[in-house]
Amino acid sequence: MMAEQIKAGAEAAGKDVLYCNIADGNCDASEVLGCDLMILGSPAMGDEVLDDPMEAFFSGIEGQISGKKIAIFGSYDWGDGQWLRDWSDRISDAGATCVNGDGLKNHLDEIDDAACKALGAL
Ligand SMILES: Cc1cc2nc3c(=O)[nH]c(=O)nc-3n(C[C@H](O)[C@H](O)[C@H](O)COP(=O)(O)O)c2cc1C
Repeated sequence: MMAEQIKAGAEAAGKDVLYCNIADGNCDASEVLGCDLMILGSPAMGDEVLDDPMEAFFSGIEGQISGKKIAIFGSYDWGDGQWLRDWSDRISDAGATCVNGDGLKNHLDEIDDAACKALGAL
């Protein structure tokens, strides 16, 4: 739901969008790496961790993101966004820029459409 709003915001801002769902196995890592801005999303899972399939996908590109711009988002329930803060730190440690700081988090399905659209327009 967040991704769809982000996509809508990006399209409204005239961006050329590559939209793919890692869970469907239809994300080409090299195509994603070629984007001016990668907006990656995954919910809080495990115990405040980034879980598969995003963990596997991100681990695969982590060594190739130096110098790139990335934004992150996801939904959570009982936590406070630790998985996004840790993900943002990993992005910085890899030499990339997390352009939306500690990420955009929405509680469960309480989607902030305006915040998602604004992220897409970056
Ligand atoms: C196995 C499991 C682990 C979870 N771990 C966390 C967690 O550590 N922190 C948190 O805030 N929410 C946690 N959640 C809640 C999910 O992040 C939340 O329900 C989220 O909205 C799920 O997004 P999705 O519907 O896109 O999968 C967990 C949910 C499940 C099923």
